[in-house]
Amino acid sequence: MNAQVHPLPSNTELDAFWMPFTANRQFKSGPRLLARAQGMHYWTADGREIMDGVAGLWCVNAGHGRREITEAVTRQLGTMEFAPTFQMGHPIAFELANRLSELAPSSLDRIFFTNSGSESVDTALKIALAYHRAKGAGQRTRFIGREKGYHGVGFGGTSVGGMVNNRKAFASAMLPGVDHLQHTLNIEHNAFSRGLPQWGAHLANELERLIALHDASTIAAVIVEPISGSGGVLLPPVGYLKRLREICDKNDILLIFDEVITGFGRVGKPFASLAFDVTPDLMTTAKGLTNGAIPMGAVFAHRKIYDACMQAPEGTIELFHGYTYSAHPVACAAALATLDIYKKEGLLTRAASLSPQWEDALHTLRGLPHVIDIRNYGLIGAVELEPRAGKPGARAFEVFVKCFEQGIMVRQTGDTIAMSPPLIIEPKQIARLLETLSSVIRQVA
Ligand SMILES: Cc1ncc(COP(=O)(O)O)c(C=O)c1O
Repeated sequence: MNAQVHPLPSNTELDAFWMPFTANRQFKSGPRLLARAQGMHYWTADGREIMDGVAGLWCVNAGHGRREITEAVTRQLGTMEFAPTFQMGHPIAFELANRLSELAPSSLDRIFFTNSGSESVDTALKIALAYHRAKGAGQRTRFIGREKGYHGVGFGGTSVGGMVNNRKAFASAMLPGVDHLQHTLNIEHNAFSRGLPQWGAHLANELERLIALHDASTIAAVIVEPISGSGGVLLPPVGYLKRLREICDKNDILLIFDEVITGFGRVGKPFASLAFDVTPDLMTTAKGLTNGAIPMGAVFAHRKIYDACMQAPEGTIELFHGYTYSAHPVACAAALATLDIYKKEGLLTRAASLSPQWEDALHTLRGLPHVIDIRNYGLIGAVELEPRAGKPGARAFEVFVKCFEQGIMVRQTGDTIAMSPPLIIEPKQIARLLETLSSVIRQVA
């Protein structure tokens, strides 16, 4: 348990922190402050226990306050707090890359380290361009993203992303040559599906239309989240991802899976690519890689991509890209300790055994006032609420705030309440989480 708890800031002391993705003025007039965390719970600064229904922000997969991670980080800080990885190396970076390559689909065994999901996405986009250029196809510069997709906040990720509020203020600075597939959410056909929806595999065929419009020879890569989280928990219809894979293969287009939230056990396998048996060419990860303890991301690249880039003359830098903190030793230590916990406690597959109970508990909310859809897969769940007329998101925001007041932390995105609890959650905690949400939904008009 965190030993030291800082004193509460006064109202004026809240001003300096410009909070990310937050309604700053609203928050600062009624702050929700977390002070410590252990296992499945946070405690607020005034001592209230809050069950964590979102693994922090889809990242604390092994639960909070893991002693093994704290000890590994402390040890590493005491041994070597930093070492560069530009033209230098340190052993645990290589050890971690090897460990990760064993977890992923077998061909994705070349690992590039970053510090966040956003950096992983921009790195994957750049690697896709570098690959085609190395293969003599430097004219392949377009990217295809998807509506409602979220790929972080770099200019690359924002450009291929498909959430209008994240894009509109920066419209003039979006990457040129990006197009988007239609999203896969269809409440009319798929409301209250359990697991993957049956309707909608044909939506992948839209890629063929975009290829006909732009010509395959101009397209570098397609990027999608196998399951999108931030856009409101959108599930791939059965067969959809396989179809995308086939079309990409036929046209020499790389397929990138953004697994920043689906990676590290969230869907009952180490990665969604394994759960859905569709192997991308590049896979972006972050969050659960270090259990959220230290910022770190990783891009998994197919060996053919690495090999193509290694054709540059001996002694030249093959990829002019990297971060000061790529493979930061302290982050590597945190990641290795995290992988040990995942292995020892079987957490990378635990969601598969819990998901039937998770699904049943979620679907008990069907029929509550304003609930228009429920979506689930692995240990991901979403309850879609009917928007209030002229006030999109207001009803779900009220639910989110009331949930917090009544002892559970969920996530609101638009009119969706999303949940992704730590993978250590126990069946009775699933029941309590959903009972509280159900009670709050009944209280909100
Ligand atoms: C699918 C996906 N990609 C990228 C990101 C960005 O990650 P980060 O916030 O670590 O930059 C997120 C964050 O939620 C995400 O869900």
